[in-house]
Amino acid sequence: MEGVDGAGKSTQLELLATALRAEGREVLTTREPGGTTLGEHLRGLVLDPAVAIGPNAEALIFAAARAELVATVIEPALAAGVWVISDRFVDSSLAYQGIARGLGIDAVAQANALAVGPCQPDVVVILDLPVSAATERGDEERDRIESEGSDLQRLVAEGYRELVRREPKRRFLVDATGSQERVHGRVVSVVREVTR
Ligand code: TYD
Repeated sequence: MEGVDGAGKSTQLELLATALRAEGREVLTTREPGGTTLGEHLRGLVLDPAVAIGPNAEALIFAAARAELVATVIEPALAAGVWVISDRFVDSSLAYQGIARGLGIDAVAQANALAVGPCQPDVVVILDLPVSAATERGDEERDRIESEGSDLQRLVAEGYRELVRREPKRRFLVDATGSQERVHGRVVSVVREVTR
């Protein structure tokens, strides 16, 4: 589950997980950065407004957190037949670090190859909400990246669109305007279409 900050990912992820569980599927939800002891430490570090981090180091920290999550949580779950829904994954790095920070999609994908290996999502749902609306929805305190403001978020949104253009059969922009229920309906229809 992907999108700019404030697009409603966490809510939609929980609604999707609940719907899949109601059909009898075993579902694990994870979040990035985080989801492991190492990942939560790295999350605190990479989002701390008091810590200066250059774009290359930023990309590598996200990749390191992801490597640990894949190896210790996601791969074992998939091997046990569990469905995994992650709040952000590699595409966040491609959009934020690759495009918004300007490192390039290919360079960031390469850095992430070590972190994820062949473990790629079957379907990427990208919640599409105008940046102005997403910023309004933005909750509580802003982390280091959110506090950079809407120019960065606009580049991220453009980054996601570029990713969809590159792989339109695996990545889907889902209109995230309107009620939670309506957005949920759109998310479910995309997931059904791809996983049936
Ligand atoms: P997130 O947990 O979605 O933020 P929140 O819980 O506040 O909604 O993500 C934290 C921030 O990290 C967000 O600004 C996006 C950024 N991020 C990247 O820049 N690259 C990445 O690879 C990931 C996973 C997140």
